[in-house]
Amino acid sequence: MRRNSITLLKFVIAAILFLAAGPIAMKFLFRGKTYTDEYVETRGKMPVEPRGTHDYNDEVKEFVKQKIDWHNYKQMAEDENRVGPGEQGAAVILSAEEERLKDDLYKVNGFNAFASDKISLQRSLKDIRHPSCKDMKYWNKLPNCSIVVPFHNEHWTTLLRLTYSVINRAPPELLHEVILVDDFSTKKFLKDELDNYMKEHFGNKVKVIHAERREGLIRTRLLGAKHATGDVILFLDSHVEANVNYLPPLLDPIADDYRTVVCPFIDVIDFENFNYRAQDEGARGAFDWEFFYKRLPLLPEDLKHPSQPFKSPVMAGGLFAISRKWFWELGGYDPGLDIWGGEQYELSFKLWQCGGMMVDAPCSRIGHIYRKFAPFPNPGVGDFVGRNYRRVAEVWMDEYAEYLYKRRPHYRSIDPGDISEQKAVRERLKCKPFKWFMEEIAFDLVKIYPPVEPPPFAGGEFRSAADDLCIDTKFRNGNENFKLDNCIKDGKSGGGEQELELTWHKDIRPKKRTVCFDVSTSVQKAPVILFNCHGMGGNQRFKYNIDTKQIYHPISNQCLDCDVGSRELFMNPCDTHLETQKWLISDVNATAVRKDWSER
Ligand SMILES: *[C@@H]1O[C@H](CO)[C@@H](O)[C@H](O)[C@H]1NC(C)=O
Ligand SMILES: *[C@@H]1O[C@H](CO)[C@@H](O)[C@H](O)[C@H]1NC(C)=O
Repeated sequence: MRRNSITLLKFVIAAILFLAAGPIAMKFLFRGKTYTDEYVETRGKMPVEPRGTHDYNDEVKEFVKQKIDWHNYKQMAEDENRVGPGEQGAAVILSAEEERLKDDLYKVNGFNAFASDKISLQRSLKDIRHPSCKDMKYWNKLPNCSIVVPFHNEHWTTLLRLTYSVINRAPPELLHEVILVDDFSTKKFLKDELDNYMKEHFGNKVKVIHAERREGLIRTRLLGAKHATGDVILFLDSHVEANVNYLPPLLDPIADDYRTVVCPFIDVIDFENFNYRAQDEGARGAFDWEFFYKRLPLLPEDLKHPSQPFKSPVMAGGLFAISRKWFWELGGYDPGLDIWGGEQYELSFKLWQCGGMMVDAPCSRIGHIYRKFAPFPNPGVGDFVGRNYRRVAEVWMDEYAEYLYKRRPHYRSIDPGDISEQKAVRERLKCKPFKWFMEEIAFDLVKIYPPVEPPPFAGGEFRSAADDLCIDTKFRNGNENFKLDNCIKDGKSGGGEQELELTWHKDIRPKKRTVCFDVSTSVQKAPVILFNCHGMGGNQRFKYNIDTKQIYHPISNQCLDCDVGSRELFMNPCDTHLETQKWLISDVNATAVRKDWSER
């Protein structure tokens, strides 16, 4: 093991950064409670009067409004006792014989559907919520919910397991209906066979709607939403499993304010063996200026209350609960968005800017299969994602749209189509400018994802003072080493990639690439390799001393050194007398490197 002590240090730093990071794979502790009289009694006090208005607060005032324990201990105990393949969220192990049979189903689904078929449709999961979630209470009167699940060619057992899990683990009075929306699937069993199965097993609790042409994700979700009649719409992807008591934490913040949108924690169901595990213990959603979905660390305040909902600027997209009233006040999704892409930004920006709020609820956990690969082509034509992004930027992002266009200049020439209706929504709801969103809600985004990349502190060739040799990374990838070679500028042969940068991330990387110099030990002649840039310092943090010309690695307290005979590069204790530790960089911003040198 070469990545020893500093790797450990890096790990500790990462752990501090993300605090409770890493899956808490805890076995559920059954506390001896059963479906007791006390429990039934509390629930029995719930009002049974007809609902009908959308102002949950006013309505609740007529009753004794209180927070109660919504756990279904009887169902939890049943789950706890289940044994079999995949039960308790465990991985399914296929026999050698079965391994040979899995390929056909793998190809059409992008995950190991053969493994799925081995697992009960009503399998149990492990309760990996933060322990304090077990004591959480929610309003005794909550809005009810329509679950909308768009699907295209979903596998039979994953779609059915989703259906069982959302029904079995929800209080029946809170689950108004489940609407499965078939986006013009070609698999035969997703037609009559599915309709009949659902009717037979779930009566009118589950409805199946079939689109008449291929609509794409966004329009399919809208189609489901139009059929929904519950107070809240919970959108889900078609290969998920809901974990214990997932629903009340999603509805409770909406009961307080119908303009609050709530996202569950998304856990990972392994595409290979269906093992259920945590992805992390939460982060706030964000984006970078190429519109890749990114995440921001939790705030100190959020970390103090691990079972409380925390504000998140942007949703991941597939799984969220929104009151029907608020969804349609916002105009749903922009119907001009095609297929998929950008819809999570559109809804997130507009709900915040127009007076709503979005939170993640840590006590609601839903597992999702992230496919290994996309098994079918999307039905889009041309750069429909670019067009969607252009629409979102034009309607919601004001002057910040420029930053997106700077990174993706071709967006400027994409015709966004008619956006007058969307602008009218913004006008009608008197929505705030994007600047407000960036400063108040996503206030730390620009620190981590700056709209304009600051220039590097130093760049160009890194020439050794000991000989006319330059550092050459030769277009190598992560986990590879590199050496010195003849300098390209001297016109000698052998040179490969010698344009390097000491970036504002304070790491050293070949220009326009995202592999970084990385040192993971502090021994004599410690190796330097290329490793994927993480932008978080640690093993990849370097500084340049413009006076001594040394390249210093603070975490190991060593300097970049070389052997001009063997042309090898390594780290050694710093010694200002050694020519082999002096590096001449072509372009140095003296102000920037001096400032960096003086900082920790
Ligand atoms: C859900 O609430 C609506 C009114 O908001 C009501 O009409 C419907 O019956 C409720 N569904 C269930 C299952 O109680
Ligand atoms: C040099 O760095 C300073 C900040 O340290 C920055 O303000 C300045 O713009 C940089 N100059 C160039 C030419 O990049």
